[in-house]
Amino acid sequence: MDVIEIDGLSSRLNVIKSFSDMSDPEDIDALVSQLRPRLRNVIGTTIGKGGEGKTTLTANMAYVLAAAERERASQGKPSKPILYIELDSNGNGRLNLGIRGGEFDDEGLGFFEALTEDKALKIIQGARPCLDMVVSGRHNGDIPSSLTKLSDKHGIASYLLLAVLLAQISHQYRWILLDFSPGDKMIQRLGLAACTHLVAPMKGSDNAVIEGLGTLATLVRQIRRLNHEVAIASLVFLGYRRVNDEPTRQLTNLRKKLGILLDRAHIRPEVVVDAFVRDGATTANLSRNYGMPAGEFALAATGRLIDSDSGEPVDRPRDENGRLADPQRALDLARDYVDVTAQVIQLIRQRNHELQGDDAA
Ligand SMILES: Nc1ncnc2c1ncn2[C@@H]1O[C@H](COP(=O)(O)OP(=O)(O)OP(=O)(O)O)[C@@H](O)[C@H]1O
Ligand SMILES: [Mg+2]
Repeated sequence: MDVIEIDGLSSRLNVIKSFSDMSDPEDIDALVSQLRPRLRNVIGTTIGKGGEGKTTLTANMAYVLAAAERERASQGKPSKPILYIELDSNGNGRLNLGIRGGEFDDEGLGFFEALTEDKALKIIQGARPCLDMVVSGRHNGDIPSSLTKLSDKHGIASYLLLAVLLAQISHQYRWILLDFSPGDKMIQRLGLAACTHLVAPMKGSDNAVIEGLGTLATLVRQIRRLNHEVAIASLVFLGYRRVNDEPTRQLTNLRKKLGILLDRAHIRPEVVVDAFVRDGATTANLSRNYGMPAGEFALAATGRLIDSDSGEPVDRPRDENGRLADPQRALDLARDYVDVTAQVIQLIRQRNHELQGDDAA
């Protein structure tokens, strides 16, 4: 693991500062159409409100996708790393990947300066094999006021700042995963303008799920001007019971309800993937405490995680009462993330295929 600085990127601020708050909409359209084809591997995870599992889902998807790239590389096939970026200032992604408080944790300062001051972008390379990460933390909390100042002078083009940055590095990555909460309008606009596909975790009561989806659909409509391609690519249920390897009636009923709503909103029903992440708050919390995504935690819980320095198996994780983590639960949760990720990526690839068809037309 190391921090690399990507410099030599062209000035993002100069691009934004070439616009005024009265700029001709056609000029903005021209910038957007240049950016769009370069951002088709950018996936945003977001949903109407906080605590819905955005960070857990994104960090786990990043881990699963990175493992697939590692597998490709081991077969001699071309591979590219995955980049995980959290925009929220709580910086919980650092917990999920065990970065918090370590030597590479700059609490989001590097990202803040790269975004708002054109400095070189700092990336943790090899947070896991084939998985790079941009660290977030309290400094991300300063992004909204900088962006507000920029937009006072340069209008809505300012919300394209992250899109302009990512468009310059996206070719280096198989997928870029952005994790952001819609709680702050500026962060929300930055994220929505930069990604092409949205993945929304659905967790909690029926009402919470339906309300969250409604909010997200509104946000997608509102960003249209700056991003006509972004759409909800996938809805993922997280934290629902599975009995005898089947979802319970709670989930099947919720799926039906959601189907009716999607139909009314002209959203394809296929966005709701069959795979879902089962209820496992204890295992999820323990794996976050250990700084391990579910797949890695399952290896640790079954005594198969090898310390890269010593070559010895890592001690099996224990809960706060000293009991060993349940290996079966860990394996089940890890499998859910593998299944969910495969289905989500399939939908995204299909969308990209359609979007590329539009390019050719
Ligand atoms: N499989 C699961 N079953 C039940 N609860 C889970 C599961 N996975 C994660 N959780 C719990 O969901 C909670 C929220 O997770 P997470 O931090 O990923 O959400 P978030 O949407 O990123 O939140 P925020 O808006 O605060 O950034 C955590 O407390 C976590 O333990
Ligand atoms: Mg989060």
